[in-house]
Parts: sequence; C-alpha cells; structure tokens
Amino acid sequence: MIDAMEIKITRKETSGLKDVVLENAAFGRHFCDHMLVANYADGAWSNPEIMPYGQFSISPANAALHYGQSIFEGIKAFRMAEGDIAIFRPHDNWLRFNRSAQRMEMPSVPEEIFIEGMRKLIALDAEWVPGMLDHSLYIRPFMFAADPFIGVRPSLTYTFMILISPTGPYFSQPMRIYVEDQFVRATPGGVGFAKTAGNYAAAMYPTNLARQKGFDQILWTDAQEHKYIEEIGVMNVFFVVGNQLWTPSLESGTILHGITRDSVITIGKEMGLEIREDRITVDELVEAYKSGELREVFGAGTAAIISPIKELVGANVNMQFDVDSWTVSPAIKKRLNDIRYGQAPDDYNWMVSIY
Ligand code: COI
Repeated sequence: MIDAMEIKITRKETSGLKDVVLENAAFGRHFCDHMLVANYADGAWSNPEIMPYGQFSISPANAALHYGQSIFEGIKAFRMAEGDIAIFRPHDNWLRFNRSAQRMEMPSVPEEIFIEGMRKLIALDAEWVPGMLDHSLYIRPFMFAADPFIGVRPSLTYTFMILISPTGPYFSQPMRIYVEDQFVRATPGGVGFAKTAGNYAAAMYPTNLARQKGFDQILWTDAQEHKYIEEIGVMNVFFVVGNQLWTPSLESGTILHGITRDSVITIGKEMGLEIREDRITVDELVEAYKSGELREVFGAGTAAIISPIKELVGANVNMQFDVDSWTVSPAIKKRLNDIRYGQAPDDYNWMVSIY
C-alpha cells in the first residue's frame, strides 16, 4: 500500500451523526461529517484536504455546469464481523475512474489521493459506517471541470472530491422493468462505458416515461436495432437460464464495466454456473422464458447490490417471475455479502482495510 501524501485535516466541531438513525438511512440523503477535496492546476494535483462536509462556491461560468465534463464512482465500505472496516474492491473503481477520465479528456487521479484519501476520510468518520446487513457506507468519488470559462475546450483546472454517506438498499422491492425500444443510452464509439454525469442525465426523460407507466427502471437495448440487451438504468443485468448465467458482454463499449458485475461472474463460476458473456437478444430471452429455462432476472451494481426483477415488459416482451421461489441470485447475494461483511474468508482479496 502506498503511503498517503500529506493530507491536511480540519475537523468538524460537532458530529451530525446524532441526527441520523443509521438503520433508516436511505440512499444518498445523509452525508458524513467530512469530505475530501483536491485541486488540479498547471498539470499537477494539490495535496488533498479533508474538511467538514458543507457547501462550496463555484463560478457560474464553471465549465462542468455548461458542458458536463464530470465523472464519478460508486464504492462501498462495510463493517466486518471482527470490527474492522473494509472497502470493497476500491482499486477496480480507481482504474475505472481513470478510464472514464481519459475518455472525458480529464486528468487521471493518483492512487494516493483516490485510495489513501478515501481510507483516511472513512477512518475519520468510522462511527458512521452501519453494521446491519444490506447497510454500508456509500463512497462517492467525483471529479469535475473547474475552469470559469464558457468556451468549448477541455478545462485546464479540475476538482476531485469524495463524499461518504451511510446507506441501506437502493431498491427495497423487486422491480418492474421496461425493455426500451425507442430511446438510446449509448452507441459504439460513445461514452457508454464511462461513468460520466451526462449518461445519467440523458436517461432521465425516458426513465420518467417508463415510471409514468408503472415501471421502476429501463432495460436499455442497442442503439442500432433495439435487438440486443445492454444494461439497466443504474446496474448491469443478469439472467439465470437453466444452469447458465447470462450477461451482456462489454465488447460494444456501450456498457458500464461493473465491479459488482465482475464479482457476480466470479461467484457464479465458483457456484458451478456456466457463464455466458455475449450479445444477448431480446428474442432469445423471450424464447428462454417460454420454454421455462429463464428462471431468474436480476440487476447488479454497487448501489443496487443484487436486485431481483419481477417483471420485464416491452413491445414484444411480457414476463413475470415468482421472485420468492428463486434460489440462485439469493445464493450469489449471500456469498457476496458473506465476503463483504467478513463472514467468510476473503478468497479473492476484494476487501481493503481502512486502517
Ligand atoms: C452505483 O451503483 O454506485 C452507481 O453509481 C449507480 C447510481 C447510484 C448512479
């Protein structure tokens, strides 16, 4: 582990934890006492600072506000059985963050700032980390253009920050998903693989239309033919078909390289499932449903964890599932949680202690 660069710490005088009931903390609403900030100018990063969480000011001409040069990550830290606090696969998120940065013409963030800054920040707010099953500390590193300039060119200055936030599950109920056949999330050569703000902004209108029809999220299909499955709004998607686990391959460049996705594939292999990472058509799914082979459908993501899907509906799709009878995805979720909460050995070296 690399030694942290010097991090100036300014402590909050009175913790806000007394005003938060950790068991009830819904996703994204409560923020811990401190945040981390580092600035990039003249081709170099400043030493990061940890300071009380709070408002900050930016120019109305801030380039990120106008042109969306902005990327982020989602990571979780867990309170382990032995009392330690550990972060789940943060180096994979760090690598993905820097791939997003490259695509958005932004500077990469060094490991000392991203990983060591995160560890220090969590250690300072360790009391905020929930211990209950399905609860954890959500970590949100992000970077945005900082130039006060409205000409269209890559910013010369950037701000990197980390917020931390106690959270329970993102989705509390099995979901109803609409198979999209009109709108598009990403095209080959575009930014679909990057965790950049605009991907989420562009999804809001179509997702809202689906919500008005009673659905929770959209299952995106490919941009050219609306024939191949891609991903769901805030997570990757998996299908249990017979003894196989199907998920869209990453080759198109239009799908987020999910860390939870990768972990599910690893656990699926361990459980003896045959993994099919491929271009998967909507028609194949309909066939597999009709023949009774399609047994379970679920989303996988940092915030979503493993989220069951009880209904998949679209132009030529009408599938309902009895989520209570499922065995495969609950077993995958249990295995994942056992490792993350320190109930099972960390066979894959996924957990990074904050101390
Ligand atoms: C995550 O799962 O961490 C995400 O970033 C998805 C969403 C909350 C934006």
